[in-house]
Amino acid sequence: MLSLNLVTLLYLVASVCFIQALKGLSHPATSRAGNTFGMTGMAIAMFTTAALTIKLGSEPVTGLGWVMLGLLIGGTAGTIMARRVEMTKMPELVAFMHSMIGLAAVCIAVAAVAEPHAFGIVAAGLPIPAGNRIELFIGTFVGAITFSGSVIAFGKLSGRYKLRVFRGAPVVFAGQHMLNLLLAIAMLACGIAFAATQLWAPYVIMAALAFVLGVLIIIPIGGADMPVVVSMLNSYSGWAAAGIGFSLNNPMLIIAGSLVGSSGAILSYIMCKAMNRSFFNVILGGFGSDAASSVDANPQQQRSVKSGSPDDSAFMLANAETVVIIPGYGLAVARAQHALKELTTKLSEKGVDVKYAIHPVAGRMPGHMNVLLAEAEVPYDQVFEMDDINSEFGQVDVVLVLGANDVVNPAAKNDPKSPIAGMPILEAYKARAIIVNKRSMAAGYAGLENELFYLDKTMMVFGDAKKVLEEMVKAVE
Ligand code: TAP
Repeated sequence: MLSLNLVTLLYLVASVCFIQALKGLSHPATSRAGNTFGMTGMAIAMFTTAALTIKLGSEPVTGLGWVMLGLLIGGTAGTIMARRVEMTKMPELVAFMHSMIGLAAVCIAVAAVAEPHAFGIVAAGLPIPAGNRIELFIGTFVGAITFSGSVIAFGKLSGRYKLRVFRGAPVVFAGQHMLNLLLAIAMLACGIAFAATQLWAPYVIMAALAFVLGVLIIIPIGGADMPVVVSMLNSYSGWAAAGIGFSLNNPMLIIAGSLVGSSGAILSYIMCKAMNRSFFNVILGGFGSDAASSVDANPQQQRSVKSGSPDDSAFMLANAETVVIIPGYGLAVARAQHALKELTTKLSEKGVDVKYAIHPVAGRMPGHMNVLLAEAEVPYDQVFEMDDINSEFGQVDVVLVLGANDVVNPAAKNDPKSPIAGMPILEAYKARAIIVNKRSMAAGYAGLENELFYLDKTMMVFGDAKKVLEEMVKAVE
């Protein structure tokens, strides 16, 4: 009894660590501590489950060595992947990991259906209670949809595979939504049949339909919308784990699964809100499909813009009292964060008041810009979220827009017909002078023209962000 209380206590400690991890990860300044809490919680949870629960259980358990071997292989593979992955490939890696969580949920559910007594669900030879069958059915279909959906998301994000379903463009066909609905109904019917009878046939058909549904739900969504999808699949993977936790009567899985499920759902909502998209709009596919490549083939080539050199920009920046930097996806592509830090350090030394303004969906994944700036060791007190800095733009001398486009597009505010109408933006257009660095007049993710580039007070500086920033640093010196 005392020993089982120890297991419960350790699970409680791990759960508190997970909650602290989520709290820490909500701000760049505390994110390292958040990560440490997360790792500690996971280590406690794994140790308790693998070593204590198995050892203290009523039946003798064999195969602990296999569990440890699995932990070693999985831990080593995870470490290598995490060390090698580039920042811009992070959503891809996360999609891959979600697919593994979904598959794990399905494997555990299949094993529990085959040998429920081994999981302590019921004594050998007795049928699985109806409640547990329902939990296993839910865990299986959510896990299967998460697995196959995440595999498609991984393929679309990586852009390396030739298969049509892995391409960025949405795969759509007539009657697609109706087919999905019919498959979903058939899957639920088989699940209910399994819950009523515990027969393998409806269980296997239900799982197969769920795998197919996972593919069909994700293929009509464009590659550029995948980060929202990945966050949604993250949520699903959490619910799948929680469902299996109920079947195995494991409070740790229930708590951790629910935390992942709810935080993933909240993150998807925040992303959709910041992009001014409804969740259903993303899930039903269409917009953003291949927006960046469908970019305006020409109209604005006829219009002229004011352009300048890195030297001109450096002169303006060094003579300003207040400067706000707006980083975007292009800064990440150019890996120019260190050059940017060098520039802003030089400007600060000259007495310029420098701030960074971050849009919630700048870049291609949540917190993308915060991570880049943290990598370059930009002080957190110089970094401001959109809502905190927007009121200041009217008093700013120079705004420097680096590889950002949609997040500063005034059409979101001024043009009710624009696809991004209503999306909150960083109000750079209010500043006294604006410098925009990008390589060409090409559009951003939403594939739209940006009137900011044509304002009289805007100077375009064309070129790769890293190269341009390095030249600016030299010029400021
Ligand atoms: P974008 O609107 O995508 O614009 C990025 C700009 O960077 C492009 O116009 C590109 O122009 C420029 N660029 C690319 N490489 C560059 C380089 N090496 N040097 C300098 N410039 C470079 O980016 P944003 O303003 O950050 O907005 C993000 C968009 O992504 C939003 O529409 C958002 O809704 C969407 N989105 C975000 C997320 C998350 S969670 N962050 C998820 C999905 C979608 P050139 O080609 O002319 O250089």
